[in-house]
Amino acid sequence: MVKKIIVIGASSGIGKAIAEAELKNGSEVVLVARREKELKAIASKWNKKGQTKPAILVVADVTQFASAEKTVAKAIGELGGLDEVYYASGVMPAVASDEYNIAKDLQMLNVNTLGAVAYINPIATYFAKQGKGKIVGISSIAGERGRKGAPVYNTSKAALNTYLEALRNRLAEKNVQVTTIKPGFVKTEMTEGLDLPEKGLLKAITSEEAAEQILKIVAKGKDEAFVPGIWKLVALIIVNIPNFIFKKLSI
Ligand SMILES: NC(=O)c1ccc[n+]([C@@H]2O[C@H](COP(=O)([O-])OP(=O)(O)OC[C@H]3O[C@@H](n4cnc5c(N)ncnc54)[C@H](OP(=O)(O)O)[C@@H]3O)[C@@H](O)[C@H]2O)c1
Repeated sequence: MVKKIIVIGASSGIGKAIAEAELKNGSEVVLVARREKELKAIASKWNKKGQTKPAILVVADVTQFASAEKTVAKAIGELGGLDEVYYASGVMPAVASDEYNIAKDLQMLNVNTLGAVAYINPIATYFAKQGKGKIVGISSIAGERGRKGAPVYNTSKAALNTYLEALRNRLAEKNVQVTTIKPGFVKTEMTEGLDLPEKGLLKAITSEEAAEQILKIVAKGKDEAFVPGIWKLVALIIVNIPNFIFKKLSI
């Protein structure tokens, strides 16, 4: 049976890699993001000339919360149903160590957290009624602790984690799976220019490697997982560092 999937944040990075991995598997995929040119480039790779399937474009800005429900309904209508949704939209603007910038903060909270809520809420309603479905949120290792370098990015991901956990608990009895993905370093547009490790246990992986791992995790029905798995150990250490030490660390 052909799986019907929505990927929000499908124009680049992890979302694009997930969408393409699913298209490769024979799924029909609605690609949601703002940059139409990037979405068209993906679609032209997977659709025969003049056809609009299996890669279907829906150009949308997730911060237009009022139109989220309509966009979701349009996507489900185009697919003729829905089996899985991946929320991968995210932003992480550079923030200096002494910078407190509400414009950047709002952008992160709006895209990373509230956009997820606006898009996933109607999908949760749809899946609860359907009695099945899979919701996957791409969060981050960054949501485990509030760090000096990224106060509101950390907050946006911690809030996303809590929202997804609550949905998981709410939807479990409706046979709906909710999976929280917490990546470590992934080489994408978001991390371009950052000095990511190229070697060692915590080396940055490609978005294709991340997508491959994410699809396996979702297929296994996991509640949450780090990508790659080694970040689980990092998280375990980080969450157990006492405040009086954590304050002094430059992480
Ligand atoms: N890269 C990493 O190391 C890493 C680590 C942990 C977690 N993550 C998380 O992984 C997710 C994907 O990030 P990425 O690394 O793949 O970065 P990316 O290549 O920059 O992708 C970000 C995606 O978010 C979409 N997006 C941004 N603002 C949007 C808006 N207003 N409306 C709709 N879509 C919007 C972008 O599409 P448009 O610009 O076309 O709208 C793009 O498709 C993010 O949530 C990020 O926080 C990344």
